[in-house]
Amino acid sequence: MTPEEKVGQLHQVANPDPHRDAAALAAAEFGTCIVASGEHAGNVRDAGTQAAAVNALQRAAVETSRLGVPLLVARDVIHGHRTVFPIPLGQAAGFDAQIVRDCARVAAREATADGIRWTFAPMLDVAQDPRWGRVAESWGEDAWLASHLGSAAVAGFQDGGRLAGPEAMAACAKHYVGYGLAQGGRDYAEVDVGPVTLHNRHLRPFRAAVDAGVATVMSAFHTLDGTPMTAHVPLLRDHLRGELGFTGPVVSDWDAVGELRQHGLATGTRDAAALALRAGVDIDMVTGAYHEHLTGLVRSGTVPAALVDEAAYRVLLLKLRLGLFEDPYTDPGRAAAVHLTPDHRALARRAAAGAVVLLRNDGVLPLTEPRRLHVTGALATASAELLGTWTLDGRAEDVVTIADAFRERYAGAVVTVDDGRFPDESLVRAREADVVVACVGEHPVRSGEANSVTSLEPPPGQVEQLTALARVSRRLVVVVLTGRPLALERLADVGEALVLVFHPGVEGGHGVVDVLTGDVPPSGRLPASLPWTTGQVPLHHDQRPTGRPLDPDGTVGRYRDHRDTPQYPFGHGLGYSPVSYEGVLLSAAELGPGETVRASARVTNTGSRPVLETVQLYVRAHLAAISRPVGELVGVRRVPLAPGESAEVVFELDRRTLSYRDAAGRERCEAGPFTVRIAPHAGGGVTTRLRVTDEAPGPT
Ligand code: GLC
Repeated sequence: MTPEEKVGQLHQVANPDPHRDAAALAAAEFGTCIVASGEHAGNVRDAGTQAAAVNALQRAAVETSRLGVPLLVARDVIHGHRTVFPIPLGQAAGFDAQIVRDCARVAAREATADGIRWTFAPMLDVAQDPRWGRVAESWGEDAWLASHLGSAAVAGFQDGGRLAGPEAMAACAKHYVGYGLAQGGRDYAEVDVGPVTLHNRHLRPFRAAVDAGVATVMSAFHTLDGTPMTAHVPLLRDHLRGELGFTGPVVSDWDAVGELRQHGLATGTRDAAALALRAGVDIDMVTGAYHEHLTGLVRSGTVPAALVDEAAYRVLLLKLRLGLFEDPYTDPGRAAAVHLTPDHRALARRAAAGAVVLLRNDGVLPLTEPRRLHVTGALATASAELLGTWTLDGRAEDVVTIADAFRERYAGAVVTVDDGRFPDESLVRAREADVVVACVGEHPVRSGEANSVTSLEPPPGQVEQLTALARVSRRLVVVVLTGRPLALERLADVGEALVLVFHPGVEGGHGVVDVLTGDVPPSGRLPASLPWTTGQVPLHHDQRPTGRPLDPDGTVGRYRDHRDTPQYPFGHGLGYSPVSYEGVLLSAAELGPGETVRASARVTNTGSRPVLETVQLYVRAHLAAISRPVGELVGVRRVPLAPGESAEVVFELDRRTLSYRDAAGRERCEAGPFTVRIAPHAGGGVTTRLRVTDEAPGPT
């Protein structure tokens, strides 16, 4: 390959056209491309792409260029392609790695049918500030959950590593690293974090994704301790490649190479290109800095040729692994056969039900068939809005609305519907109904990229509307659809039930109604704490104890004007029957080197309806070289229980489960006392003590 041809593999353009860009294709000026509507792609729809258009591009690249190297076509397939699943935060509410993997598998099956072979997902940012709009794309506030579900998404997109198959897409672990710590929740803002927190919370999901074989990584926009991630040698080259052993390509975020000028590290795209390549960014997304300057930088000796060679090698190897050299083309007939099939819809319906979190219920749920049901609120008849942010190929006409799902389910009843535009009309209808379901919450335009908010309260006017409805409704169910955790203090006593739904996708109406009617037991659990008020954030379950630990029942707290605990804790979500937890039993009171201890608890459905209980395992180290969190999630079991049924839920603990990483990233687990807790959420459960010892295992 000539130097120009090698550099071409490192240049990514947006939305190329086989005619307009014929000369560039013949000269192999770019090796990958992104099909996107622009820099804030998440909330701007575009025409998308089809196999025929991608095949035309491939034909131009393969048949007119000197070496015939095929293109790698990328798109943000974040939570579905034509079959849109709940936003990742909603999938996270299911705490179910299998369904996350299945959704990613279907997304890849549908997107590859349109010629897309690389997705910029999963997003692995641990998001502890819900003001940040990109919390919608995250797996929530917990590093273990993000690792567990992010790895499942990688396996789903990449078809378990069988990348050469036509239905596999290269996944992309993003945004490396720490983006969820953007100061003030302001997107793109600076991040300042120490190495211990970085290793134990924010790098952890990336380590898991690399271990799961993720094919690519995307470096983030922000600065970390003053250095833009696009130019961060220690974390990109030393840690990601050195420590984690990642060997695939690193792609910059959109125009992030060019943005080194705005960060103040480069005066122009020439020095920006040198900085980014030296740091370990292999592909320049849409800036054009590599294309314009790299051959000159190598020729002048400013940048070693070896850096270009190794970057080009990684890109070519990925194309080889994807089977693009054998067959770069896509069967144009596949899309019609795989898009939005009944099976895909059925999966989307199950996933949507998992995005429904029952926060409060005085018994009005599950609904029994009413004579008269009134469905109201801005999201009652909404379609495109249920798809959530980062939905590029979903279509409003495919969406099952909540109102339609109720009409279908309660065909024998009188179901009246309005969208709440005229609150006075809604009040009249509400008074006439046996039960009212009010569907309010966020429009997706309020979450996703570049959509941070200063207040976590429901959008303006909704609380007033709900309060008025509560006065006249016999029974009122409040359903809040959202792209982020919200502060629902003002809804604490409004209506007889409060349900949170993270934008649930194309089958959102069915998923919500399945849960509200009890056809599907509520299984959603909060993937992030819900604060009482915005002033509490960041507020996450795995806080460190401080030198003056909180006494939740105490009179002295951190705030003079509000509580210290969340309104609803991480992991919270009710079912339609109470579940009791009986004491944690350990197979041994001590854990020595190389040993494993089993921790179990008995859970019992003490009610009259089936439940799907999400049993969570938390540990706490009481002695270490650092101050460790008051609780760390290290395991989850999803346990179906019929009325009256009990189950012994068993987890295994070993030192790796109990370990942490020190400032140098070394894994450690000091001997000492631990608390082991098996719980329905981060604020409760049953506990016991375990001692980790350094003594060798006793005689067997
Ligand atoms: C955006 C996002 C990133 C996305 C990329 C391509 O700005 O930060 O998540 O994958 O650009 O659309």
